Amino acid sequence: MKRQDGFPDDFLWGCSTSSYQIEGAAGEDGRSPSIWDTFSHAPGKIQDGRTGDIACDSYRRWRDDIELLRGLNAGAYRFSVSWSRVQPEGRGEPNQRGLDYYARLVDALSEAGIEPWLELFHWDLPQKLENEGGWRNRETALRFEEYASIMYRHIGDKVRHWTSMNEPWCAAFLGHLTGEHAPGMRDRIAANRAAHHLLLAHGFAVRAFQQSGLKGEYGIVINPSKPRPATLRAEDIAASERASIERTSLWLDPLFGRGYPKYFMERFGADMPIEARDMEIIAQPIDFIGVNYYNEEAVRAAPESIENPYGVESVRTWQKRTEMDWEIEPAGLRRILEYIASTWPRKALYVTENGAAFPDMAGPDGFVRDYDRIEYLKEHISSCRAALRRGVPLKGYFLWSLIDNFEWSFGYTRSFGIASVDQATRNRQPKLSYYFYRDLIAGFAL
Ligand code: FCB
Repeated sequence: MKRQDGFPDDFLWGCSTSSYQIEGAAGEDGRSPSIWDTFSHAPGKIQDGRTGDIACDSYRRWRDDIELLRGLNAGAYRFSVSWSRVQPEGRGEPNQRGLDYYARLVDALSEAGIEPWLELFHWDLPQKLENEGGWRNRETALRFEEYASIMYRHIGDKVRHWTSMNEPWCAAFLGHLTGEHAPGMRDRIAANRAAHHLLLAHGFAVRAFQQSGLKGEYGIVINPSKPRPATLRAEDIAASERASIERTSLWLDPLFGRGYPKYFMERFGADMPIEARDMEIIAQPIDFIGVNYYNEEAVRAAPESIENPYGVESVRTWQKRTEMDWEIEPAGLRRILEYIASTWPRKALYVTENGAAFPDMAGPDGFVRDYDRIEYLKEHISSCRAALRRGVPLKGYFLWSLIDNFEWSFGYTRSFGIASVDQATRNRQPKLSYYFYRDLIAGFAL
């Protein structure tokens, strides 16, 4: 079979989604609320005031999603499991109907020749656990181990690729420091505690997987960033280094057994609820790192404040921007991959999310010709090829996203899909970019 030029034969092409963003069926078959149900129902938190109650209705329409993936000839599908669907109490007995949903999904994917990439946590913590302190509470990491073990026991023989969680930086800092995400707190100590307990939860889940005797590859998905200094003034360079500690080293250093960065511990060590052996648990060996990349950013030094403990601010850049107001900087993807590959021990890397929101206007024929998105994808995938040429051990690329979905605090006002979802019927319709990605996977688009 022909392969895309410059990519190894076994390079994996896939698409990503997440449970709260697509499933809907929020109150069905025994699912209990997650912190995102609570947050999206609270007035003023979501730009269009909407929720994930129905979302893309993938809980019912998952066959349509698989059809889209088949049409692309995608090698893998990265989706996440709703914890409160499979363990509504956040502890104890699993909910069989919830487990059945994921078992059916995974079986159907495998039958279609699409490798299921199962992610245990994409931010939708059971509200019951939030009521007991959520990620601020160490106990939640133990509950996560129990939940992970349920998944291993029930569908562990069907899944070969596991990730513990998505972007713990967002869950900790957007959730507890800036308050943009659930649970909407603004408290630095809470954010730092959450960061530690998220990493600890990851470590517990990896250890339980190893003890289960199951076969498979295990990883974690982060959203690393190494912002450019806006100028070469010493204070701006130092600011960019602090930003990259918060966004990258804070996660990769402990995962690779280096402990938390020195700068971080000097400043915030007193916030951290580290107990004996925690750092060892966090550093359980894993097989790959998932990298989500959308943009790069330029930064300069700024006064420190409660919400800006690192004293860093973003400044205007010259690049074109997406509808998220994120700069389009394809070379930044190569730079971050190279940075990771050259700074931490060599480990397989996957781009687990990359994509863009644009104001997709359907033509009179109802078809979305999203040339902006195609250009974005083309340039970023070329940047992956450049990283490969420079020796980065990049093994695959997942596009965000298969379908338009609930974009967190932006509700449905931002679309990342290569297929749209009709808001009345929930029918999926491929956009032009869908056919671009199909051609790319077949080896004809770069
Ligand atoms: C990432 C999230 C994903 C999606 C994209 C646009 O931070 O992991 O769920 O919302 O951004």
